Amino acid sequence: MAQAIRFDTVGGPEVLRLETVTVGEPEPGQARVRHTGIAVNFIDIYVRTGRYPAALPSGLGSDAVGVVEAVGAGVVDIQVGDRVGYLIGPQGAYSDVRVMPAEVLIRLPDGISDSTAATLMMKGMTAQYLFRQVYPLQGGETILYHAAAGGVGLIACQWARALGVTMIGTVSTDEKAALAQANGCTHTIVTSRENIVDRVKQITNGRGVPVVFDSVGKDTLEASLNCLQQRGTLVSNGTSSGSVVIDTMTLAAKGSLWLTRPAMMHYIMPRAHMLDMAAEVFDMVLSGKIHSAPSQTFPLAAAADAHRALESRQTVGATVLLP
Ligand SMILES: NC(=O)c1ccc[n+]([C@@H]2O[C@H](COP(=O)([O-])OP(=O)(O)OC[C@H]3O[C@@H](n4cnc5c(N)ncnc54)[C@H](OP(=O)(O)O)[C@@H]3O)[C@@H](O)[C@H]2O)c1
Repeated sequence: MAQAIRFDTVGGPEVLRLETVTVGEPEPGQARVRHTGIAVNFIDIYVRTGRYPAALPSGLGSDAVGVVEAVGAGVVDIQVGDRVGYLIGPQGAYSDVRVMPAEVLIRLPDGISDSTAATLMMKGMTAQYLFRQVYPLQGGETILYHAAAGGVGLIACQWARALGVTMIGTVSTDEKAALAQANGCTHTIVTSRENIVDRVKQITNGRGVPVVFDSVGKDTLEASLNCLQQRGTLVSNGTSSGSVVIDTMTLAAKGSLWLTRPAMMHYIMPRAHMLDMAAEVFDMVLSGKIHSAPSQTFPLAAAADAHRALESRQTVGATVLLP
C-alpha cells in the first residue's frame, strides 16, 4: 500500500487529498521507485486547475527522486538499489512509492544528494533546455528573465553567470531581489515598484535585449515585447499569471520579433538525449557552478499547503514534498 495525493475534480488546492492506494509489482518495462523527495512545480498547478487536462480521478506530479526497489522483465539499464530521478511520465509523483516506466528514469550520480536532485530534475533540466537548446546562449549577451528567484529561476541565475551572460531578472520583492543577485543575477527589477521596460532600457542604454525568457505570461507579455531589440526573441515558457494571446501583427509592429512557446517534451527525447541533458545539469552541480537545495519543504500530506504557497508567490527557489 502507498500514500498518494489524488484529486477527482479540478479546482483550488483543497481538491488535493491524501489517499491510500495499492501499488503492485512492476510489469515488463517498469520499475517501482520509493520516493525520497518530490518536487513541486508550477506545472502541477496547471494540472490541478485543469489548464493542462488530466483524466480524472488522477494522481499529481511528474518530478521526483528515490530508490528503485523492484524492476519488471526486460529492464536492463536500471537496477534494484539505483538512486534515480525523473521529470516526465504519468502524473502521480506526489506519492511515497509508485510504479513508473523505467525508460524515464535517470540514474543519479554519487556526489549529488537526493535533496539536491529533487530540485534539479524538472527545474535544472528546464534551465538547460532554455539556455542551451531553445535559445543557445553564447556568453556576453544581456537577457531579461522573469521570476528570477523562483524554482527554475535560481538555477537559471547561476547558469547564466556560468555562461558569462548578464541577466536582468524580475522579482516581486526586495528579499527576492537579494536572493536572485546572490545566485548570479546581475540586475534585478522589483516589479512591485519598478517599471520593467524603463529599467531594461536604462540598463541596456536604450538598446533592449535580444531575448526574454517569460514564464509569467499574461502580466508580463506587453513589457517583454517592449524590452526586445528588433528581431529579438520572446521565449514564452510559462503562464504563472495567466495565458498569453498574441496577434502576430504585434510581432511585426514591434520589430519583426520571434516568438516561441517551448515545451520540455519536444526537447528531451529520445532517452539518450535526456540522459545527455541530465549529465550536463549534474556536471554544473558537481563542478560547483550551480548550488541547489530545497528552499522550503512540506510533508507529502500537506501538498495543498505547498500549492497555496507557490501560487501566492510566497516561495523562493525549489519546493519539495517529503514522503
Ligand atoms: N515550458 C516548459 O517546458 C516549462 C518547464 C518547467 C517550468 N516551466 C514554467 O516555468 C515557470 C517557473 O516554474 P517554477 O515551478 O519554478 O515556479 P516559480 O518560478 O518558483 O513560481 C512562479 C513565480 O512566478 C512569479 N509570478 C509572477 N506573477 C505571478 C502570479 N500571478 N501568480 C503566481 N506567480 C507569479 C512569482 O515570482 P515573483 O513573486 O518574484 O514575481 C512566483 O514565485 C512556470 O511558469 C512554469 O510553468 C515551463
